[in-house]
Amino acid sequence: MLPNLILIGFMGCGKSSVGRRLAALTGHRFVDTDEMVVQSEGQAISEIFAAKGEAYFRDAEERTLGNLVGVCGIVLSTGGGAILRESNRALLKKIGIVAWLDKDPDLLFERASRSGKRPLLQTGDPRASFDELLNSRLPLYKEAADIRLDVGAMSIEEVAQALLDKALRHHHML
Ligand code: S3P
Repeated sequence: MLPNLILIGFMGCGKSSVGRRLAALTGHRFVDTDEMVVQSEGQAISEIFAAKGEAYFRDAEERTLGNLVGVCGIVLSTGGGAILRESNRALLKKIGIVAWLDKDPDLLFERASRSGKRPLLQTGDPRASFDELLNSRLPLYKEAADIRLDVGAMSIEEVAQALLDKALRHHHML
């Protein structure tokens, strides 16, 4: 059976849409750590950040990942900062094949800033905050990833197919 697939990458790289498509392609169940945190906390992500702070959110995110170890048959989409803690990077490896959706910074910023729902970009200079966050995280995505795909301007369908292909090859090489 195909192992679990985990999508990591910066805000706006398309983890949720690609994850849903991958789940449909593989028959796996789609799971999203942000959605699980929203459910367990009973609050939107932006409300959690505003009321309780980022560290509280990160603890909830880590608990959510911990609860997924041992669960089979899932495609897991993670929040862009899920790779920040070393403990989380170890949990991701235990859960399944970790796939990094990499994308050109300008395209990422355009998508990430569009929704207005991302607390880490609600600053006086969203582009500067974005650049700083992205640069500090790139080495961590690289470290956490088993496979990487430069998604460029590919469609959701193309990304899902290409990732599945790479994941299968990676699985057979294990
Ligand atoms: C975050 C990304 C968000 C969400 C939270 C923090 C981050 O998820 O987990 O706002 O630190 O990059 P998306 O990557 O799905 O936007």
